[in-house]
Amino acid sequence: MKLWSGRFSKDVDSEVNDFNSSISFDGRLYKEDIEGSLAHAKMLGDCGIINRNESDKIISALNDLLKDIDAGKINFSVDAEDIHMNIETLLTERIGDSGKRLHTARSRNDQVALDIRLYMRKQTEEIITALRSLISEIIDKAKQTTDYVMPAYTHLQRAQPVTFAHYIMAYTWMLLRDISRFEDCKTRMNFSPLGAGALATTTYSIDREQTAQLLGFDGICENSIDAVSDRDFLIEFAAAASLTAMHLSRFSEEIILWCSSEFGFITLDDAYSTGSSIMPQKKNPDIAELVRGKTGRVYGSLFTLLTMMKGLPLAYNKDMQEDKEAVFNICDTLLMCLKIFTPMLKTMTINKKTLRAAAAKGFINATDCADYLVKKGVPFRDAYKSVGCLVRLCEETGKTLEDLTLEEYKTVSLLFEKDIYDAVNLENCVKERKVSGGPAPEAVLKQIKKAEAELNRKEHEK
Ligand code: ARG
Repeated sequence: MKLWSGRFSKDVDSEVNDFNSSISFDGRLYKEDIEGSLAHAKMLGDCGIINRNESDKIISALNDLLKDIDAGKINFSVDAEDIHMNIETLLTERIGDSGKRLHTARSRNDQVALDIRLYMRKQTEEIITALRSLISEIIDKAKQTTDYVMPAYTHLQRAQPVTFAHYIMAYTWMLLRDISRFEDCKTRMNFSPLGAGALATTTYSIDREQTAQLLGFDGICENSIDAVSDRDFLIEFAAAASLTAMHLSRFSEEIILWCSSEFGFITLDDAYSTGSSIMPQKKNPDIAELVRGKTGRVYGSLFTLLTMMKGLPLAYNKDMQEDKEAVFNICDTLLMCLKIFTPMLKTMTINKKTLRAAAAKGFINATDCADYLVKKGVPFRDAYKSVGCLVRLCEETGKTLEDLTLEEYKTVSLLFEKDIYDAVNLENCVKERKVSGGPAPEAVLKQIKKAEAELNRKEHEK
């Protein structure tokens, strides 16, 4: 029999029963549901809304129930519809009428809004922790590769020389911004909807501040209608997660390219690659490809949430039950991706020689060659043209700028002297870019220090 069966003259159709039920996915909220009920029961007792003995009885039975669920001793029932009614039914089976008093001055509408906030607060923390580990790993790799010269690209064409350290540090800053977004989202999430009831609070003199404080919130949701109908914090979370997924996807794309024979910049550890069922020579970057592929799920869930909410009149509507699978999908996907990406990065080998060889091709020191002339007084546009001629000469003769003889240099400008070879030396090209935020080893070391300070500051603020 349903908890709400009093008003109805017959049982619900069995397919409707299944369709309506959310226990298959909201069962994972059992801890938060009990945590919320513990606070609610204590407050009801403290405010004299239920008798102290009953409140104590409820609290101790809820704690026992939590232990039993944790130990896998409880099977939830589809008939009890959702986690809230499952817990209430189980409680009532154990302590009878006292169990039935728990729902005084509460509705499933404020209850579910509470549970999902409590759950997402923890998940957001976990994601932040996983992001921190990934960032530390990138920084570690960067420290080892400040002198690994490589080409950086625009339009996927070799452009200018940088180092591997500088290249991957770009991802550190993206991920640090991601942490800020998740933290920011957590601050707005951290207000208690409990006590809003179905939508208009209650006539009992409950203490919303007390439950908010017991549950570690920064305050209460100030409008009871908003409290039960707001899912902005889930959408913000999904948007932050989408950016993180996009960052991981871009990084994955680089890794996939880098481990191809065409690039050969890195070698993935065997434990983080897979073989082919037919081609014995294959070693595939499946992990990076899956991380890239799973981005679609995260974006999809963001759109599920945005679309679900856009036409809902205030306050609670059952459509909102759909929020859970969407955010759970994001949490599971993102955490899994972060947890596998970090060791994949940790165990990969960076091929210094191949990076250096790629840097030697593609005339990525052409800008430096032009700057050489500029420093001797030639206007940049003219220098640019002269070096263009040199590049054409190189292409015709199969040479690099480093290979050209001084005579060949002098065919385009008499200002070229022997020191041009220092100017186009790739290590020097990198070393000279020592402006803040640049690829020179000394600049990158400063950048790493700043990133570490940022990471520590974030740890401190937690
Ligand atoms: N299972 C529901 C959900 O996830 C809980 C709230 C139900 N409230 C209601 N009035 N039907 O949204």
